[in-house]
Amino acid sequence: MSVNLVELREGGAQDLTSVNQIMQDAFDPQYGEAWTKPQCMGMLSLPGVWLTIANSDGVDAGFALAREVAGDAELLLLATRKATQRRGIGATLVRAVIAEAHARGAEQLHLEVRAGNDAVRLYCSAGFAKVGERKDYYKGRTGELFNAQTFARVLR
Ligand SMILES: CC(C)(COP(=O)(O)OP(=O)(O)OC[C@H]1O[C@@H](n2cnc3c(N)ncnc32)[C@H](O)[C@@H]1OP(=O)(O)O)[C@@H](O)C(=O)NCCC(=O)NCCS
Repeated sequence: MSVNLVELREGGAQDLTSVNQIMQDAFDPQYGEAWTKPQCMGMLSLPGVWLTIANSDGVDAGFALAREVAGDAELLLLATRKATQRRGIGATLVRAVIAEAHARGAEQLHLEVRAGNDAVRLYCSAGFAKVGERKDYYKGRTGELFNAQTFARVLR
């Protein structure tokens, strides 16, 4: 099933309440992957960082936060609201980040994701390949630790 219309726009500090709502809805607190609003605010104020918001049928339904520094880009956060998942919004955001990172001159796009996260399928189908593993990187609500996997995609 796909949504009728997904519009992408560049986000800013004024969108962080919406971003935070999407993040609280999307991320399972069991895994400790979500960021706080101040963390997002701090990151967004750094050079080379950009936020993309996906609006679906008039509602902010997802976002991607990314940065590009000296030819290397990183997808920092990606989330879509549960109610509109599996409709192509995540893939649309990933494609937009790939295009923007390329336009900014990056040669590679990196990301890290919790091992076992369903997003791994999305990243693999978008051309990312696994390049490493970070043990006990995420700390869940109950103190349980989860490995992170690092992925990269060549942009040239
Ligand atoms: C990961 C996430 C952003 C995907 O968003 P989405 O809008 O559902 O993505 P899409 O609809 O474009 O899905 C693209 C593909 O990803 C894979 N995928 C996404 N969610 C999946 C799930 N729950 N189970 C299995 N595969 C899944 C599928 O291959 C899917 O293609 P398909 O629906 O044709 O099978 C969303 O599930 C989310 O916000 N998760 C919580 C936050 C998170 O873990 N973010 C990633 C780490 S930063």
